[in-house]
Amino acid sequence: MSFDEVYPERSRGAQGKLRKSKGYVLLLASVAALGGLLFGYDTGVISGAILFITKDFGLPTHLQAFTISVVLIGCIAGSAVAGPIADRIGRRWTLFVAGVIFCVGGIVSALAPNEETLLAGRFVVGIGIGFSSVVAPLYISEVSPANIRGALVSFYQFAITIGILIAYVVDFAFAAGAQWRWMLGLAVVPAVILMAGMLRMPESPRYLLRLGRNLQARAALQHIYLDADAEKQEEASILESLRTKSQGFEAFAQPAFRLALFIGVTLAFLQQITGINTVIYYGPQIFQMAGFASAGASILAQMLVGSVNCFMTLIAIFFVDRLGRKPLLYVGLSGMFLGLAALAYAFSQPHLSGSLRTIAPASMMLYVGCYAFSLGPIVWLLISEIFPLPARGLGMSISTLANWVGNFLVSQFFLVMIARLGRPGTFGLYAALCIVTIIFVRTMVPETKMELLERVRVGPVIGAATSSDVP
Ligand code: BGC
Repeated sequence: MSFDEVYPERSRGAQGKLRKSKGYVLLLASVAALGGLLFGYDTGVISGAILFITKDFGLPTHLQAFTISVVLIGCIAGSAVAGPIADRIGRRWTLFVAGVIFCVGGIVSALAPNEETLLAGRFVVGIGIGFSSVVAPLYISEVSPANIRGALVSFYQFAITIGILIAYVVDFAFAAGAQWRWMLGLAVVPAVILMAGMLRMPESPRYLLRLGRNLQARAALQHIYLDADAEKQEEASILESLRTKSQGFEAFAQPAFRLALFIGVTLAFLQQITGINTVIYYGPQIFQMAGFASAGASILAQMLVGSVNCFMTLIAIFFVDRLGRKPLLYVGLSGMFLGLAALAYAFSQPHLSGSLRTIAPASMMLYVGCYAFSLGPIVWLLISEIFPLPARGLGMSISTLANWVGNFLVSQFFLVMIARLGRPGTFGLYAALCIVTIIFVRTMVPETKMELLERVRVGPVIGAATSSDVP
């Protein structure tokens, strides 16, 4: 059932109030999205800092690699526990705790007197990223009215890309003075704002209703909707969904939850194994493979990648609620496929000269740009939408865990794959995985545009008119 069918009065008279409530929800989303900014910043910043850390601590190669990847191990650990914690202590407090973890990790890393302390600090930062990658999209999705939910969760992805871009710029700015401690330590600023902000934000009304704190939930819903009828209908719909579904780990007994989990885990994993972080983490190396002469030119090209990644996310913000999740995924994944196939073709030629020199970087931009308005934001959006409320934190945690495992595998094995499969083979494989993703989206993923969260249903979608196959 569509949003307008549920709230017919919305389509007629209540647009003015809706506009005011949008401002309020945007404020909530912006504070929570700081979790995304920190996610982007803290994963991106190490690529520039590592050169100077290596020098200061005299790191051998294997410790260099571990200093980069230890954050991902923290992310895996943090995302595994964040959902159940958010189901227990609430979304708001879990995000506050994420802010505290980011602060502690940032300070320990920036002041680390030796490699061991630095590793511990970066592991703690990883736990913070794991927490926020589960709970920030979950919180945003739960406080958003259905008709702008896609835009607001995409805004979270926008914050990730801004964080990555800021990290590249900060690395560049502090490189001259070899100031890696500032690079790592600056993350404390948004972390403090996140903590202070979450102290003032309301709890998710869905979480409050689940606890039976109906008065508080009603107050939160009133702020969001400024419309008594809409708010009552939303409350009734949430309460109904709580009556019929099992809580927490009991949810595994439900076929609909298991199916949602299969879809969430697969999508989150596919987001990574189609190769995005090869470009985000190893961009300068790929540019050098493509014939860029100097390290400086490659780093500048990488900033261009970061900007394309950031600005193209705006397309998702503007169109994901109008056109729907699946059309954007089809267009974006097709573009990603073309970009990767062109890159594989360019690398298969014996010499990268003439127009091939242009094709390689251009196809990387095409790939990143298309990812930015499709698989990037929409995976976070869908995994915050498809799980039933009583087990939503758990479902998001497991899916996000799969995302970080995929991230770890791709970033660890990218250079090994280049050595074993060659450049055309590696990028060709990622291209093939984009096609697999298109088929998966076509057959398994429901269209959730304009659906109230409680009415989203999962099930095989081939031949179905709506997404409501599984009762
Ligand atoms: C992914 C990250 C990636 C980023 C790039 C996010 O959605 O989860 O792994 O680095 O997009 O923008």
